[in-house]
Amino acid sequence: MEFHQLAYALLLAINLIHGVHSAVFTIKNNCPYNIAPATLTGSGASASTTGFQLASGASNNINIPTPWSGRVWARFECSNDGGRFHCNSGDCGSGQVACNGAGAIPPATLAEFTIGGSNGKDTYDVSLVDGFNLPVSIVPQGGCATSDCPVDINAQCPSQFAVRNGSGATIGCKSACVQFGTPQYCCTGDHNTPSTCPPTDYSRFFKNLCPKAYSYAYDDPSSTFTCNTGANYVITFCP
Ligand SMILES: *[C@@H]1O[C@H](CO)[C@@H](O)[C@H](O)[C@H]1NC(C)=O
Repeated sequence: MEFHQLAYALLLAINLIHGVHSAVFTIKNNCPYNIAPATLTGSGASASTTGFQLASGASNNINIPTPWSGRVWARFECSNDGGRFHCNSGDCGSGQVACNGAGAIPPATLAEFTIGGSNGKDTYDVSLVDGFNLPVSIVPQGGCATSDCPVDINAQCPSQFAVRNGSGATIGCKSACVQFGTPQYCCTGDHNTPSTCPPTDYSRFFKNLCPKAYSYAYDDPSSTFTCNTGANYVITFCP
């Protein structure tokens, strides 16, 4: 056995003993323009990157230590004016390609994950709770169900919820929570239970277009998907 084989065997043995695993997220850009995906770690060690640029048609693998929970989203219409990286849609405000622990400024479509949760399960969902900015799909490798919002909601966004760029094109669609910020739409305060925070016409607008995505905080639990820990995931923007 050569040294590198021995080292690999040892690492494998240590991983088996400690249950250490790292999931791979393959992030693909099927949009006809460049994007800048980003990650935000909620709990666990940080993902291998917090932000990177991805050309149209390209894909990139990132490593996710387990256990991990966090989110992935993508920015677009990015530029580096005066040395400060900024994106018109999905920006995190870091001023850099890396988001360094900053989250998306809504509206942004979120791909949310818990990897290595209790009883050996991963859970994942697409969330429109903070609004929409790009279509996305989460496809687990190995047979678990796809979660997605494959529709361009920007094209159908009611004008009062639309976020527009300098040319007037809609580049994001706010949820009612993001637009109004009230307990009724954000499921906070005296609306902080499923029974006191039912769907609204606004959340139904998102649900009708993307039935497999979360349209508000207490959406149908069928919006959450489960897979055995050990799966890898392909996250495609503009699937
Ligand atoms: C606004 O979006 C449109 C359509 O995506 C694009 O052609 C245009 O360049 C954008 N304008 C700005 C100022 O980024």
